[in-house]
Amino acid sequence: MELPFSESFKIKMVEPIRKSTREERAAWIKAARYNLFNLRSDQVFIDLLTDSGTGAMSDRQWAAMMLGDESYAGASSYYNLKNAIKNIIGFDYFLPTHQGRAAENVLFSALVKEGDVVPGNTHFDTTKGHIEFRKAQAIDCTIDEAFNTTLDHPFKGNLDLNKLENVLQSHPQENIPMIIVTVTCNSSGGQPVSMKNMREVYKLAKSYGIRVLFDSARFAENAYFIKMREEGYGDKSIKEIVKEMYSYADGMTMSSKKDAIVNMGGFIALREEKLFKKASQFNIIYEGFVTYGGMSGRDMNALAQGLDEGTEFDYLDTRIKQVAYLGNKLKEFGIPVQEPFGGHAIFVDAKRFLPHLPKEEFIAQTLAVELYKEAGIRGVEIGTLLADRDPSTRENRYPALELLRLAIPRRVYTNNHMDVIAVALKNVYDRRSEISTGYRIVNEAPLMRHFTVELTPALKETV
Ligand code: F0G
Repeated sequence: MELPFSESFKIKMVEPIRKSTREERAAWIKAARYNLFNLRSDQVFIDLLTDSGTGAMSDRQWAAMMLGDESYAGASSYYNLKNAIKNIIGFDYFLPTHQGRAAENVLFSALVKEGDVVPGNTHFDTTKGHIEFRKAQAIDCTIDEAFNTTLDHPFKGNLDLNKLENVLQSHPQENIPMIIVTVTCNSSGGQPVSMKNMREVYKLAKSYGIRVLFDSARFAENAYFIKMREEGYGDKSIKEIVKEMYSYADGMTMSSKKDAIVNMGGFIALREEKLFKKASQFNIIYEGFVTYGGMSGRDMNALAQGLDEGTEFDYLDTRIKQVAYLGNKLKEFGIPVQEPFGGHAIFVDAKRFLPHLPKEEFIAQTLAVELYKEAGIRGVEIGTLLADRDPSTRENRYPALELLRLAIPRRVYTNNHMDVIAVALKNVYDRRSEISTGYRIVNEAPLMRHFTVELTPALKETV
């Protein structure tokens, strides 16, 4: 008999989590103004808000922490990280930052000006925020297939080369500071970009003299999908695939809180010395001296180790199979989920789950609240709240997809937890016709409203 699949690690340290009653949760979520970001973590049983900074570090990462060098300038930890980036990614120049959006802030300060356009595959919200904050425009060039949750396509993160070329043709070169390729594409469901697409985007970009940057939060998961799905890559190691991926980029920003399995950290890595020097000035103003950015030495050491572990096949196989395990359970229950499953999360199609709710009532947020009330599970809305308002008209932007994201932290939960999540969602699905109201906004911030928005039921209170 073939041995069943099991995790590529064993557990050395645990953290207790606490269950609650439905009545407690109903009161807590009401007090939190139906915004799951406002809950205390001890009011949550299984936390799927994000896979960012929530992973479990390995014994080797903790050991590396002890060897951290906290020198202000020229710390050995900086050189450890510089070597890891050179060896794994291949870029010569790098700047540490405290997280991914800080890397965007620093690099875009050097690159983006008012009136610019930045094409890419569904930019992540902080990326878009940093572009729009500078009065530039992020243009989505993702393939149309990405917006059909039932369509089976191996690389739904791909850029549509025609859409991209239209942007490159219709704007002067000096107004296109870069093309951003997000690997994997978080906002369209943790979907990967194929190597072929990366190669073609790079070729097209070069023919217009435009630089390509990778938003690299989940680059290793992208490499895993290339190995598993793209012809010619099955026998290559993840590290070989990663090297080839970055041969089609001029630079990158990275939130290290995902695929490098650290709790905090980020960086910029570049091929061009000139841009590195320009960005260094902004790093010093915003983050810290160029050899530590926003990071302590111990954190840079853990990150260097995490980059190595995060690009090992066995780790990625465990990780991505756990996400697929949850996805398959939900499918068995008939719950509409995005397919194929993404790398870091399962995305529930809220419009198909609650077809009777109007889009003005924040359908995916309604589902997120219901799942929390059901079992203390915290997911996150990737829908109208997140899409925010159009910066010029101030009208709500209604995205093609209303999703509830169930992001799975790395090396944290077991498959028993996945079973609980699946059954909880099935229970909500079974009573979906009783969910008669969504929510309306009571208070919202002018930018990135989803973090702090306050809501109230659109019709009447439902418990
Ligand atoms: N780019 C992508 C693709 C991301 O997913 C994120 C963060 C960032 C950039 C920003 O990085 O958080 O370190 O500042 N995504 C998190 C999430 C927050 O939950 O998906 P950061």
